[in-house]
Order: sequence, then C-alpha cells, then structure tokens
Amino acid sequence: MKNIMAVYGTRPEAIKMAPIIKALAAAPSLEVTATVTGQHREMLDQVNALFGITPDYDLNVIQPHQSLNGVLTRTVNGLDKLFDTARTDAVIVQGDTTSTAAGALAAFNRGIPVIHTEAGLRSFDLTSPFPEEANRKVTSQLASLHLTPTVQAKDNLLREGIAEEIITVTGNTVIDALLEVVNKPVTFTDSRLEGAADSHRDILLVTTHRRENQGTAMQGVGRALARLAMHYPEAWIILPAHRNPVVRETILPALDGCANVIVTEPLSYGEFTRLMNLAKVVLTDSGGVQEEAPSLGKPVLVMRSNTERPEAVGAGTVRLIGTEEERVVREVSHLFDCPRAYASMAHAVNPYGDGHAAARTSAAVEEFFGVGRRLAEFAP
Ligand code: UD1
Ligand code: UDP
Repeated sequence: MKNIMAVYGTRPEAIKMAPIIKALAAAPSLEVTATVTGQHREMLDQVNALFGITPDYDLNVIQPHQSLNGVLTRTVNGLDKLFDTARTDAVIVQGDTTSTAAGALAAFNRGIPVIHTEAGLRSFDLTSPFPEEANRKVTSQLASLHLTPTVQAKDNLLREGIAEEIITVTGNTVIDALLEVVNKPVTFTDSRLEGAADSHRDILLVTTHRRENQGTAMQGVGRALARLAMHYPEAWIILPAHRNPVVRETILPALDGCANVIVTEPLSYGEFTRLMNLAKVVLTDSGGVQEEAPSLGKPVLVMRSNTERPEAVGAGTVRLIGTEEERVVREVSHLFDCPRAYASMAHAVNPYGDGHAAARTSAAVEEFFGVGRRLAEFAP
C-alpha cells in the first residue's frame, strides 16, 4: 500500500483537492492522508465539512495579517516534523499557493516524491499573479509527476524541458467538484440572498481578493460597484467578501449605504455555485471562478490584466478587463445594456474539465507507483 499525503491550505485548494482525496481513497493499492496547513481557517473548514473530509493532520499555521514567509516557514517546519512519524510515499499538492510551494519544498527536501496537480499554468509574469506564478514554477521544478488541466498547460511544461512521460492531462478537478454540488438543492443561510433569488432581478456577482489588486486598484473597483449600483437600481450586486481584513477594509467603505449591494460572509461552496447559476454576469479576480462560471454559461469579466487560464478567454466567455474604475463600469454596463454582446459571451463551454479529472489523477498516481495504468487524457 502506498501512502499519498494530500497537503493543502486554502479554500480553492480544498475544493479542488476534495475529489482527489476521494479518488485516491477508493484506489485499492493507495491510501491517502489529508494534511491541512491551515493557511485559511473558516474558508478551509467550510469546504472540508461540505465534502465530508476530516483532516488527519492540521498544522494550523494561520495568523492574523500573516506574511507569505510566515506561512511558508510554519508550513515547512510543521511538515518536516510530521514526516518523522507519518509514513509518506508521495505528497500531492494543488495549484499555486504558499501552502502548495511549501508542501512541495518540504517533501522534496525529505526525498519524498512530489505530485503536482493543476500543473503548468503560466501567466509569464512573476509580478501577476503574485506570488502565485513563482509558486507554480518552483513547484514544477520539484515535482516528479505533473497533472495538467489542459493541453496548453502541458505544452508550457514541455517548453520548460519537463519530460512528456511524467505529464498527464487530467482536466481540472474543480469541474468534478462543481458537478458534485451544483444540482443539489441548497438554501441560502443569508435571507437577503433568498430575497434576491425570489426577486428574479439581474444579479452581478462579484469576488475579489488578489494581492496585486489590493490598495488603489481595489478602491477603484469599490467605487465602480457603487456607481453601477446607482445606475442599475433594479439589479443586485452581490459580494461574498473574502475573510482577508485587508480586502474588506479596502473595498467595503465605498459600498456603504448602497441599498442594492449585498455584502455577505464567504458562502458555502453549494451556496456560491447556486449564486453563480442565478447571476447574469460574474465580475471577479478569482482563478477558480474563471474556471467554473464558463461551464455554467455565465459571462465572466476578469479584473486582471493577464491570466494563466487563457482557454475560456479563447472560447469567448471570459474577458480580461483590468481593474480601472471607468473600464469596470463600462464593461459591466455593456453586458447589462447590449443583448447581442451578452449573448455572444453567455454560452456554456468546458475547456477545464469533464468531471473525471480525479479519476485520471488517481490512475496516474497508480501508474507512477507501478500498480496501474493512466487513463486517456482529458480532451474538451
Ligand atoms: C491566498 C493565496 C491565493 C488564493 C487565495 C484564495 C497565497 C500566496 N495566496 O490568498 O493564491 O487565491 O488564498 O482565497 O497562498 N483569513 C482568515 N480566515 C480564512 C482565510 C483567510 O482570517 O479562512 C485571513 C488570514 O488571517 C490572512 C488573510 O486572511 O491574514 C489573508 O489570507 P492569505 O491566505 O494569506 O491570503 P492571500 O495570500 O491573499
Ligand atoms: N467560492 C466559495 N464561496 C465564496 C466565494 C468563492 O465557495 O463565497 C469558491 C468558488 O466557487 C471557487 C473558489 O471558491 O471554487 C475560489 O476561491 P478564491 O477566489 O478564494 O481563490 P482562487 O480561485 O482565486 O485561488
């Protein structure tokens, strides 16, 4: 029996790791250990609870106003101690967070093979997303098996000299997670959201948290939302606010007193996917939301100047608009006012997965250990 330790720490990693943990646990020759770093707390626990995952180990590294290096060092130290007692044949990490890079580094330094899922994404700009682009590149250097969501991501790795035999295109497990929850009936715990759903009025769903957008850019986005709220009094603007106090302090003041703006706590994944389904337009700087909303046929305006997820941009359902106040107002208004522009973006596409990424992941891990064969690669 080979023991695979899944190491993850933030909300998006938890969502994308959940299907993998289940698939590894179901594989006859593998056993899985779930280790959370605790880089996030409430937002992480919420996801584990939803998917019925009780972590085997919790490093609980979170601190208020934590620094990148603080999270990194506490995670590496915590894992190093854990590896003394927890037999680990491989570590699997997901994506591009500090928990990801720290998990990869800690395992690598102990001679434990690293498996990287959602590998190969590149914005080709180390400053954006910061520090995620660096985290991905570091993790790629350390990994022994690379599981990419798309062919483009695989091509990025091939161009960096990574051997084709150790890369498999699995699709992104975020689509597995989405398909698991999206059709389950769920009631909003915040009654204002039930009211918004019942009103059948247009909804602009907004999420923002990126480090490089914090500061003046995010203040401008706040002003843009306040202007949109005035301009479209019949619409709802709904912002499930990230737990990061810096994000809240930056964006929320501009929204004070806007009657048709609803700011909520982070929503459970089931509630959030229901809200995406109800939304007319999604405005976000999130990576995961860029992957999910296109598969629900929702136009996505991305508040970034680049993206490491170009596939849905190419398919026409995602548009990069940056963070400049005037542009945010103009782009949202265009989709609200122009049915043709809206229709051209509102079609469902699935460039990121077909719901079987976790099965491909566990088969690739079995092949890595010589106890199985990988499955046919994901092709949209
Ligand atoms: C991190 C990831 C980013 C990912 C995002 C997902 C890095 C470098 N960044 O963002 O890639 O897109 O998470 O949301 O790894 N906080 C809580 N409770 C929570 C979560 C956060 O209180 O459940 C507070 C923390 O105390 C922290 C702050 O929010 O001080 C920011 O959290 P952090 O994980 O450091 O956020 P980012 O690095 O911006
Ligand atoms: N999400 C959620 N509740 C919310 C907001 C987002 O469950 O209130 C989900 C969303 O569907 C996506 C993920 O969280 O799967 C995105 O996380 P986040 O934006 O924090 O990180 P990123 O994807 O940018 O790394």
